[in-house]
Amino acid sequence: MSTGTGRRFPDGFLWGSATASYQIEGAVKEGGRGPSIWDTYSHTPGKTLNGDTGDIADDHYHRWQEDLGHIADLGLHAYRFSTAWPRVQPGGRGPANREGLDFYSRLADGLLERGVKPVLTLYHWDLPQDLEDAGGWTARDTAYRFADYAELVARELGDRVDLWTTLNEPWCSAYLGYGSGAHAPGRTDGAAALSAVHHLNLAHGLGLQAVRSVLPSARGSVTLNLHVIRPVDPSSDDDRDAARRVDALANRAFTGPMLSGAYPDDLLADTAHVTDWSFVRPGDTEIARQPLDVLGVNYYSTGLVRRWDGVEPRSEADGHGDALGSPWVGADDVEFVRPEGPYTAMGWNIDPGGLTELLLRIHREHPGLPMMITENGAAFPDTVSPGGAVHDPLRVDYIARHLEATGQAIDQGADVRGYFAWSLLDNFEWAFGYDRRFGLIRVDYETLERTWKDSAHWYRDVVARNGLD
Ligand code: FCB
Repeated sequence: MSTGTGRRFPDGFLWGSATASYQIEGAVKEGGRGPSIWDTYSHTPGKTLNGDTGDIADDHYHRWQEDLGHIADLGLHAYRFSTAWPRVQPGGRGPANREGLDFYSRLADGLLERGVKPVLTLYHWDLPQDLEDAGGWTARDTAYRFADYAELVARELGDRVDLWTTLNEPWCSAYLGYGSGAHAPGRTDGAAALSAVHHLNLAHGLGLQAVRSVLPSARGSVTLNLHVIRPVDPSSDDDRDAARRVDALANRAFTGPMLSGAYPDDLLADTAHVTDWSFVRPGDTEIARQPLDVLGVNYYSTGLVRRWDGVEPRSEADGHGDALGSPWVGADDVEFVRPEGPYTAMGWNIDPGGLTELLLRIHREHPGLPMMITENGAAFPDTVSPGGAVHDPLRVDYIARHLEATGQAIDQGADVRGYFAWSLLDNFEWAFGYDRRFGLIRVDYETLERTWKDSAHWYRDVVARNGLD
């Protein structure tokens, strides 16, 4: 298998790997942590594959020192992790829980001692359950509570954090959490999903303001899973319009307020039958538009859409009409079609060219905005060989191709500053539980033993040589 194009990355390119609190920590009832929406959701029968929960996960809460050892041995420059809001503020409001802050404080120190930059995400989906009970992201107040929480973390960790990221993939929080119901809290209400979109945008702005109120020179970012959506027939006006609508919901609903200070007109018009957007108050989108030092980009695959005629049964690849709702609020005449393979174990198509395209689009539309790939990687059905090794050539190939695709965008002018492989460890893959493995490092869920897959050895070499072989 050839993974090498000989590509080298710019000097100072930041190599890292990423995780998220609920996916790895476990210890959900320890250290004064309160319940989150993912505890509730995963404990609700039928919501996750095999009924898996994050109760134990990778037990990183107890094994963090060992995990720091792996990060150091991989030679990573940076580690992207998230703080669990319910560890810091068990009920989502009020004073900080000392034990929760101490955990992240030790983690940050441990990273710095090993020469690794902490890249911190404040919200990777584990909303305190008490806040959900008060309306969750459909409640404007949640955005203000997020700012309080952000300030508490910023005061504690201060300049030990290299980069502050407010939210991870607010698309998922809003549309999967409140639209399709495939993620916690599992609501299926299109209008609620759009109000969640807005309150997440507001929370991002208020959160970054709060961080900078304590740390004026804090470097700030947000991580978006921007979608690359293609029309089935590029010459069809209907199909191109379907792609435009999905682009508005998926991408411009966030980049509009955050990067340009306004919601796009076509988004408001397309969804007028769902909501009047009266939850947007004067000044909100200006708050959402805070100066960003870096835009975090998560990328895995592409989407293919066409206009649905309302007669033929929808493609099986389409999310509409499942027991779940659709995340594509208001786009009832849009049909998702399965793109060409190959596919990963998630059923996601492998299309590295989409990453080049996406980075160049951001570069074109927001010139001067540095970017970082904050997640990219793949789940495959790994097997352990009799000698204990995990040969995962497909994961190596996936990452290599996406690195090359990133390099091609850099060649064409995109300012990409770093790459974080998803994920450091196999972990709780949300609704798919422990069934889907994304780690560079295998976790045996019986013993919690960590084993480097071939991809980890390979990635260590990529980092060391600052490029592909
Ligand atoms: C992203 C999430 C991350 C992980 C990967 C596979 O959407 O941010 O937590 O689950 O997908």
